Amino acid sequence: MKIRFDDRVAIVTGAGGGLGRAHAIGLARRGAKVVVNDVGAARDGSGASDAALRVVEEIHAFGGEAIANGADVTSWDQVQAMVASAKGRWGRVDIVVNNAGILRDKTFSKMSLEDFRLVIEVHLMGSINVTKAVWDLMREQQYGRIVMTTSSSGLYGNFGQSNYSAAKLGLVGVMQTLALEGAKYGIRVNSIAPTAATRMTAGLMSDEMLAKLAPEHVTPAVLFLASEQAPNRCIIAAGAGGFEVAHITMTQGIFAMGEGSPEAIAANFDAMCNRRDELVPESGADQRVHEVAKFDIRYAS
Ligand code: NAI
Repeated sequence: MKIRFDDRVAIVTGAGGGLGRAHAIGLARRGAKVVVNDVGAARDGSGASDAALRVVEEIHAFGGEAIANGADVTSWDQVQAMVASAKGRWGRVDIVVNNAGILRDKTFSKMSLEDFRLVIEVHLMGSINVTKAVWDLMREQQYGRIVMTTSSSGLYGNFGQSNYSAAKLGLVGVMQTLALEGAKYGIRVNSIAPTAATRMTAGLMSDEMLAKLAPEHVTPAVLFLASEQAPNRCIIAAGAGGFEVAHITMTQGIFAMGEGSPEAIAANFDAMCNRRDELVPESGADQRVHEVAKFDIRYAS
């Protein structure tokens, strides 16, 4: 079935360029009414411009519907006003793509706490602000699709990006819980871990590699996660036409208890790491269930 967004209203943050622009255009081309949000900041978050307006003009040029919005996602007041203007104009908000972001890369020893906090404020709190501002509306609508933009840096680490990694994995944590809380209201929450040639990655990869990584190659996964057919609580990795799913897993592990347990863990660490029959817990409670089951087996009559 063709994925369409007719009568759906979407907010895409940080959509004045890069990945957000591609997502906003992708949604609008398939019928969504789109709020193109962007403060128009530089890569490090400084300054402002009318980047969102230019993307709206692109959307209007092919007959799509969009409005520009300059809210700073770190401002709760501005975010609430953005959601109110979307609702005022189109009556609902069905889709949020939390995409706005900045970089303040430095090794941990050289990074100021200010740069640590700022990156968390924009990526993590910015996404939480927008999600919080639409959450009750989506519950009332009994329908919502939220996409968090995580990163391989958060999932797997990246030299010089401790602030960014913390923010990006934090978003996965928020997704894990909101996916559980939203399910009964028809709200599905997922994450995208993109790889794309944008100003954020300019200079970080060879030109040959960047040429394969157009942001438009990531957007199909975002459209799927924004659609009626979206899964729930899924992390899709995407770039250069490759699409994968990332999981947070747990091994079967071992059982050890009592005085000699630290030594037992050391002696059996390889067995603990063995990935055969690895689990993908469906919620945090699964860890406890798995562990108590091992206890019960060990102490069964
Ligand atoms: P980009 O720098 O082109 O886009 C980010 C946009 O967010 C900019 O247009 C900027 O003005 C806007 N923005 C920044 N602070 C804002 C604020 N407080 N309020 C509203 N808008 C704000 O970079 P790119 O690459 O398109 O990044 C988009 C998202 O994808 C980011 O969350 C980034 O961390 C993530 N990402 C990108 C990867 C890549 O390979 N390009 C890899 C992994 C994640």
